[in-house]
Amino acid sequence: MKKICVVGTGYVGLVTAAGLADFGNSVIGVDIDKEKIRILQEGGIPIYEPGLLEVVERNVKAGRLTFTTDIDSAIQNSRVVFSAVGTPPGEGGEADLRAVWIVAATFAKNLNDYKVFINKSTVPVGTGKKTRELILKESGGSETFDVVSNPEFLREGSAVGDFLNPDRVVVGSRSKKAQTIMKDVYHALITRGVPYVETNIESAEIIKYASNAFLAVKITFINEIANLCDIVGGDVNEVAKAMGMDGRISPKFLHAGPGFGGSCFPKDTMALVEIFKENGIKSRVVEAAIEANELQKQGVVSKLKSVMPELKGKTVAILGLAFKPNTDDTRFSPTKVVIPLLEKEGAELQVYDPVAMQDFKRDFPHLNYKNNAYEAIDGADALILMTEWNEFRSLDLKRVRSLLKSPVFIDTRNIYDPRDMKEKGFIFVCTGRTRCAL
Ligand code: UGA
Repeated sequence: MKKICVVGTGYVGLVTAAGLADFGNSVIGVDIDKEKIRILQEGGIPIYEPGLLEVVERNVKAGRLTFTTDIDSAIQNSRVVFSAVGTPPGEGGEADLRAVWIVAATFAKNLNDYKVFINKSTVPVGTGKKTRELILKESGGSETFDVVSNPEFLREGSAVGDFLNPDRVVVGSRSKKAQTIMKDVYHALITRGVPYVETNIESAEIIKYASNAFLAVKITFINEIANLCDIVGGDVNEVAKAMGMDGRISPKFLHAGPGFGGSCFPKDTMALVEIFKENGIKSRVVEAAIEANELQKQGVVSKLKSVMPELKGKTVAILGLAFKPNTDDTRFSPTKVVIPLLEKEGAELQVYDPVAMQDFKRDFPHLNYKNNAYEAIDGADALILMTEWNEFRSLDLKRVRSLLKSPVFIDTRNIYDPRDMKEKGFIFVCTGRTRCAL
């Protein structure tokens, strides 16, 4: 059992801390945010993540998981220190690493014995090397540490399952001592046969960006195919299903929609483009995906205008503000692009999301927030479904039809069947399936 400190109790840090404790390790979660730590110490969790509260509660009860704001003593008492702090996009799209440097410097200051420093946050290639140099400098040349890159592959909304049952664990370090310690940390997964991939630091750092950028490109590709289907009359679901039967392609991440969002793909694709530039080359593929994704988000408004050309004075209901279901996170949500465009066209908005309204209010305090889907739809001239929450999958369509002033339904997530919706009397537009009802 290793004594572990996880710095940062955002969704990556908190899931990591709880998950590592669940593997039998003794874990202390640290944050400078006193309010977050107070909530955790009082038995709550400061974020919405399904299943996380149960894992936190279980491990706190078992005495394996505690929380503190005292980073110095947490590091001093740990062998292994995970840095899981935020790396938001800087002004030029590059990752802002200021929080990582602060954690590394604090680690150096508290290096009372051999310790492993692990970058869990998504950091550009070369950060591991720089972290090592910074710790060496700040600790006055102490060699009693190793730096490891251990990227995470958690999806918001299913982060707990992803952590406890990952496809692989990637650990980048050429230090045998550090690798032995990391194998001990992940012992519970290794004994279950989860692939444990040992690489050098640079490879591990690239694996993270390459994985996220590849998935972002994959989504963007199917979105383009959806746009073609909408013109020629294909059905993108049929296309994606048959494409996915090819084992080399796989059916995952082939759901067409309003464009990818969230705290990861937009930030990591931009950062990867910057990493290429800094190294004197160009990533044409990733740049193209970013550009196409912006157009995909804007295209939602064009879909509405294709059936309702004049939006001035019209009321539009928006169902779904989160960038995807099962999260309250609205960072880079496609809805944040769609709403200002609708407002520019002179539309009035009535919006609803099951959990993300609070988060959305920070950037859009002025919107007309409603208590449920039907309140948002009531009296609207059109409805746009932006997030595929389960509760939007089983709407009472008769009621929706009667509440809408005109039966315009834009389903950006392809939840509903175009033929069925046409039969029910809707003017229905979706993503890559619209014309298959004609
Ligand atoms: C993503 C990756 O999937 C995780 O592996 C990674 O660890 C994480 O980023 C991260 O770097 O921290 P996440 O952003 O939580 O996870 O969510 P995803 O489920 O990947 O969805 C991202 C966006 O793509 C969402 O806007 C979603 O609606 C969209 N998407 C996803 C599609 O439009 N179509 C799909 O088929 C899949």
